[in-house]
Amino acid sequence: MRIPSDLAIRSLHERLAPNPTALDLVHTHCVIVAEIAAQLIARDRLDVDADLVRAGCLVHDIGVYRLYRPDGSLDHANYLQHGILGHELLRDLGFPEQLCRFCSCHTGVGITRDDILRQSLPLPPADYIAQTAEERLVMYADKFHSKSTPPKFLTAATYQSEVIRFGHDKAATFAAMVTDYGEPDLELLAATHGHVLV
Ligand SMILES: [Fe+2]
Repeated sequence: MRIPSDLAIRSLHERLAPNPTALDLVHTHCVIVAEIAAQLIARDRLDVDADLVRAGCLVHDIGVYRLYRPDGSLDHANYLQHGILGHELLRDLGFPEQLCRFCSCHTGVGITRDDILRQSLPLPPADYIAQTAEERLVMYADKFHSKSTPPKFLTAATYQSEVIRFGHDKAATFAAMVTDYGEPDLELLAATHGHVLV
């Protein structure tokens, strides 16, 4: 598979973003997630395709742009759909499935068909679960930064306390990932980007 360059992905963000604020919020978040993943790869010498992980991080939230309304506000009620919207968008642009899946399979710690049916989530019933080592790493790195207003970095403990509202099974899945990967060092990234770490 030909992995798109950072520049090509940046151009795609610029093309899809409805306004400069959305571009800054989403693209910066994607770059930060890529930096977190790169740190984990280097620190633990993870056996992954680092270029694919980077591209996956840079595209994973591209579907968020589709949730902006004409007035510039974000459709929070359907935010959960940003993953499949991104997957469809990349697929329609001719990107390989391997890349599209970073969009649909990074949300939370994975969404199952059972989650969708039991909680009446606004998604077509299916399993949206990270499967490859690269998909798992992108999903994990994403948990440590939020596109909140203002954007912020999250410690593992903070994310753990937030994910519990989606179920104890989700909290257990995240805890197992923290044991597997360890916690990234976020202090320097937070200082570099000027975002708080909570
Ligand atoms: Fe994200």
